[in-house]
Amino acid sequence: MPPSPRPGLAIASLLALLAHLLLLPHTPATAVEVCGIVSCPGSSAADQFLPPPSVQFPFRLDRQRQSHRCGYPGFDLSCTPGGDTLLLIPGSGEFTVKSITYSPTQSITLADPDSCLPRRLLTNFSLAGSVFRPLVPRQFTFLNCSDGTDLSPLASDGVRAMPVPCLSGSSYTVMSVPTKLYDRDSYPCEAMETVTVPLPWQFWVDVEAVISLTWDVPNCGSCRNRGGQCGYKSDNSTEVGCSNAARTGLSRSAKYGVILGVGVPGLLCLIGLASFVFGKNRARDQPVQSDATDVSNLIASRSAAVSMGLDRPTIESYPRTQLGESRRLPKPNDTTCPICLCEYQPKETLRTIPECNHYFHVDCIDGWLRLNATCPLCRYSPEDQS
Ligand SMILES: *[C@@H]1O[C@H](CO)[C@@H](O)[C@H](O)[C@H]1NC(C)=O
Ligand SMILES: *[C@@H]1O[C@H](CO)[C@@H](O)[C@H](O)[C@H]1NC(C)=O
Ligand SMILES: *[C@@H]1O[C@H](CO)[C@@H](O)[C@H](O)[C@H]1NC(C)=O
Repeated sequence: MPPSPRPGLAIASLLALLAHLLLLPHTPATAVEVCGIVSCPGSSAADQFLPPPSVQFPFRLDRQRQSHRCGYPGFDLSCTPGGDTLLLIPGSGEFTVKSITYSPTQSITLADPDSCLPRRLLTNFSLAGSVFRPLVPRQFTFLNCSDGTDLSPLASDGVRAMPVPCLSGSSYTVMSVPTKLYDRDSYPCEAMETVTVPLPWQFWVDVEAVISLTWDVPNCGSCRNRGGQCGYKSDNSTEVGCSNAARTGLSRSAKYGVILGVGVPGLLCLIGLASFVFGKNRARDQPVQSDATDVSNLIASRSAAVSMGLDRPTIESYPRTQLGESRRLPKPNDTTCPICLCEYQPKETLRTIPECNHYFHVDCIDGWLRLNATCPLCRYSPEDQS
């Protein structure tokens, strides 16, 4: 027979849990300058999947529209007449901003307005004078392969060399290959240059599409991840602060969930327990193992499980579609892979997440799903269903 808990102790720990959840967020909070979230209009030609990036601290959109207290030095953005968002990197020129991630990782994803990122990387790309550093720095070697060269060693599975059409001429093809996989002596092409490419993800092999940068100062990622607002402290200082962030490490919505899920039934329980206490008072010596950290741990382990990727058999179980020469698309309006932002080409293989019917390049979505168990477009999670 299980020992019945001592009611006084149960009430005390329940009260402690409620106090922990309800009172801590109201302990001293830093007031910060709050600026609205703005964005450029977005160009009509832009990918239907990608709304214009939302601009918030430390980024600031043009000096006229937002006070200097809305942005951190080095993070100014502007809009092109066509509605795109632009970032000027000192010494490297202007880049189109494709997206900005604010938390938990801080990153900005950039493309070349003239659609030839490799040319930008090979000419005068440098982050030395900027506030950014590469998100995932990876060395790539560019090769100049004259026509008639046997490219099969470069196309083998382990090497993953990619042609760079915007640098290629009528009598030669420029290829890019991860330097680590490139063996100078075994390949026929002439090596041009080796550069560091700031990749968006670890597994990325295509230098053509986008680059991703991150920044260390100001660090707002963990503040925003806890539901806080990040900005200059409102007392005219140049210090950056975080306001209204939850202290327990739970996001704000998780906290409300816990308050509703635990608090309300808890109060009902309290009433029941109170009548139990007044009814009969039989003490046992078994303390109740229940406090707030147990609940936090439970929720933390839950969210960790959700953010993990899928295993290979699950990923492989999703249907693949090979595009024909006519490039007839499974969904006529989906012409672009939402992950790498490249248009689908004839003969390419796509993969779809059947439950939400979204299509991606097979390489792009496989890499993504290994890290995240959700559809990058609609956040549908196969694991939630199983
Ligand atoms: C770097 O290249 C860009 C584009 O090619 C050009 O606009 C810019 O003037 C160059 N900057 C320097 C410092 O050479
Ligand atoms: C590649 O090599 C050819 C000669 O084989 C040369 O004409 C061409 O300019 C080179 N291309 C680049 C981008 O270096
Ligand atoms: C903040 O600075 C502005 C001008 O720099 C000044 O007018 C204002 O009084 C200052 N506010 C505080 C609270 O110090």
